[in-house]
Amino acid sequence: MAKKTINDFAQMVDKGEKIVYLTAYDYLTAKMQEKAGVDMILVGDSLGMVSLGYDTTFPVTMDDMVRHCQAVRRGAPNTFIVGDMPYMSYQTSNEQAIANAGRLVKEAQADCVKLEGGGPMIAERIKAIQQAGILVMGHIGLTPQLMGQIGGYRAQGRSAAGAMKLVDQAKVVENAGAFSILIEGVPAAVGKAITERAGIPIMGIGAGSYTHGQLLIYADMVGLYDNFTPKFVKKYANVGEVLTNAFKQYADEVRTAQFPEDGEHTYNMKEEEIKEFLTLLDKA
Ligand code: KIV
Repeated sequence: MAKKTINDFAQMVDKGEKIVYLTAYDYLTAKMQEKAGVDMILVGDSLGMVSLGYDTTFPVTMDDMVRHCQAVRRGAPNTFIVGDMPYMSYQTSNEQAIANAGRLVKEAQADCVKLEGGGPMIAERIKAIQQAGILVMGHIGLTPQLMGQIGGYRAQGRSAAGAMKLVDQAKVVENAGAFSILIEGVPAAVGKAITERAGIPIMGIGAGSYTHGQLLIYADMVGLYDNFTPKFVKKYANVGEVLTNAFKQYADEVRTAQFPEDGEHTYNMKEEEIKEFLTLLDKA
């Protein structure tokens, strides 16, 4: 199937078709997601926790993002890829933001970049990156890079005033030139209000069913990442358990010499070659 473009996403919104969005961080997962017909893949800075074992997304670097985006692109050559801008890769200046967004597109062939926040500084960055010719997806609500300011990893917009602030931020981000916005961790009523007022595709993760598209962190929905599972995650498989059991069985079979089985998992050698080999060994 051909890679979807922003025109396809706009048409899907017009027709009321939902956009399917998942994270991936490596070649194999991206390959399976493309085969499964996922519309859009986010190489999120959540890779810091899921793939690199950090407690937060803060330590993730541009080099980490470029390397993982490249792997995902190799696995999913025909899928729209969103490259996440890691902490402090866009906050300092418009020039820094454009240069780093450019790396994700130029070195990793991402189709767009995503950055977090909805204030005036972020609007300025979105405008600058967009004017440099790069598509930008905004990200508001529960924004992990702003964890300190939003009071930790918790749902946002649960008061009327908090909800209004998010509606305003969505407008700021849209007016700055974002082609789409991801809303994370907000009540369904807030997801609905923002989606109804938007002129661009609204993606949601933990933002209810009304948004134009749905995102999940793939490692959560297949039961691979069990350090913490947010309320909005649905588990579609328990791959973590399947893999752990396979590793246990392998360990058991190696220790009891059941694996490898002669003939089944070993390379053969002709009888005469073995004979000659043994003679050479004796002589050596
Ligand atoms: O990094 C990521 O995967 C994200 C999601 C949590 C939305 O930004």
